[in-house]
Amino acid sequence: MLMAHALSRPDLVSLAAGFVDQATLPADFTREAFDAIGADPDEIRVALQYGTTIGYPPLRRLILQRLLEADGIPLDTNRVSIDRIIITAGSNQLLFLVGDTAFDPGDIMICGAPSYFVYLGSLQNLGVRAVGVDVDENGILPEAVEARLAELDSAGQLDRVGGIYVTTYYDNPAGTTLPSDRRSALLDIARRWSKRRRILIIEDAAYRELRYEGEDLPSLWSLDETGAHTVLAGTFSKTFSPGLRVGWGVLPEDLVGPIVAHKGNVDFGSPNLNQHVMATVLARGYYDRHLALLVDTYREKCNTALAACEEYLGPLQGVRWYHSTGGLYVWVQLPEHIDTAMGGPLFGRAIDHGMLYVPGEHCYPSEGAPVRKNMIRLSFGVPSLDAIRRGIRMLADAIEELLEEL
Ligand SMILES: Cc1ncc(COP(=O)(O)O)c(C=O)c1O
Repeated sequence: MLMAHALSRPDLVSLAAGFVDQATLPADFTREAFDAIGADPDEIRVALQYGTTIGYPPLRRLILQRLLEADGIPLDTNRVSIDRIIITAGSNQLLFLVGDTAFDPGDIMICGAPSYFVYLGSLQNLGVRAVGVDVDENGILPEAVEARLAELDSAGQLDRVGGIYVTTYYDNPAGTTLPSDRRSALLDIARRWSKRRRILIIEDAAYRELRYEGEDLPSLWSLDETGAHTVLAGTFSKTFSPGLRVGWGVLPEDLVGPIVAHKGNVDFGSPNLNQHVMATVLARGYYDRHLALLVDTYREKCNTALAACEEYLGPLQGVRWYHSTGGLYVWVQLPEHIDTAMGGPLFGRAIDHGMLYVPGEHCYPSEGAPVRKNMIRLSFGVPSLDAIRRGIRMLADAIEELLEEL
């Protein structure tokens, strides 16, 4: 719907779609990877055949190696093997398969308010209740999760709580990164409250490698020594190509069998050729070279967006935003009385001024912490630096006009 609106007005500056920058897509590296596979008569035939449902082993090995390196875990660890790594069609498929396998309709997933809206839609499709808890500029609040669990327990619903969903790096939409102490607190909470059944943490690390400032943090998954409480979801969509649809997950041991069986019934495994391409891209060092360029490009976009917020939104009373240090989004808060919804007074006015945003209300779970109507998600991935600046200026003009009228 939002997308249709944007497409019907090509002159609009869209700060809405969370797509990646078209100009940065790795056309040359991808062609080289295809050429290398095509030049090997054995590999091309293997790649053109069905693969295994769980995914191409060399790719899973490369993913595991990268993850262990990032998390500071020795490569010869016996904590985890590639048997627990599954390749999926984007991380969305992983998130869906985990939901469909591990949860029943009527189960509860604790989510930040706000959270990634496509995941909220996916939970809704599964009949799983997304129950929101408050976040601040550092992400989900462990004490709010604890309070919500206590409340659900008092209401006799603890046995329905199946998991806690959290985007630990540069969240979509809020741009927040969960500090280390909150990661361990969440894990501790999930363990302590697994009184009736296991409460899984679904850690979504889609934006981990799009880091523009500060140090990388160990994943929440890495704090879970046994790996029994955490699913880690990753993807090459944001850092390489969403068109390849290569995502991955690290699963608790007992979920591997059921999830792979379910995936087998759905699709027999993700496109094998794309997995060979991704493995080649990683093994030849193309991925790291591309990532370095990408991070520079997006860092500049992020800084431009934040500077434009400072310049144009800063002077407006009651308007603030989170300082994103990675990812693709800036989360903006307007005065309480400004409704940013599509049917509200700001949305159409912003379009009249020439820009499009995502109303924050789409990012809220339908239960739990209240839906905040005065929030906006801005994406800076696609537009040029100039368009980012203009888009934010147009938004500021629309807000200013409205503030004068109200
Ligand atoms: C937080 C988050 N998780 C997961 C995804 C899924 O991406 P993909 O299915 O392309 O891996 C996205 C895409 O926008 C996202 O923002």
